[in-house]
Amino acid sequence: MHRLRHVPLFTLVALVLLTHSALSGAAPLSIELPTETARFEPSPLPGYAIASGKCSICHSADYIQLQPPGMSQSQWRGEVSKMQHAFGAPIDDQEVDVIAAYLAQTYSAEPRAKAAEASGAASSGTP
Ligand code: HEC
Repeated sequence: MHRLRHVPLFTLVALVLLTHSALSGAAPLSIELPTETARFEPSPLPGYAIASGKCSICHSADYIQLQPPGMSQSQWRGEVSKMQHAFGAPIDDQEVDVIAAYLAQTYSAEPRAKAAEASGAASSGTP
């Protein structure tokens, strides 16, 4: 009867091996891929197709994601125009506003309020 000691010992060894392989197998699954910010946020706005096609020629959408929150449409327009003129992005003049509208509505917290503020505050902002 004492020979039955071997059965639980074997079971214990098997359990240790199973646990070990389960733990080492779980580690690679926790790697986070950076693709979510690297792509442009999908949107029905026409600027989405232009931005994902033309703004990712030189860099990923991370650059857009890293801009301060709440940028107005005119601030985005300035950014797009900078890409166009300073860095030579192949963007047509009529596309600048379309892209800026998409960026403001997709990446800014309060695009409408900020856009109104930007256009209204320019003349009456100084006391
Ligand atoms: C011709 C190449 C090119 C294209 C196309 C391009 N960019 Fe850029 N972008 C750059 C370069 C170069 C920088 C500066 C990188 C640095 O400073 O390290 C930059 C930086 C940025 C930044 C970071 C802030 C800044 O001003 O440096 C934002 C936001 C940005 N781009 C948005 C856009 C958007 C939106 C588009 C599409 C309308 C676009 N880019 C298309 C070259 C490009």
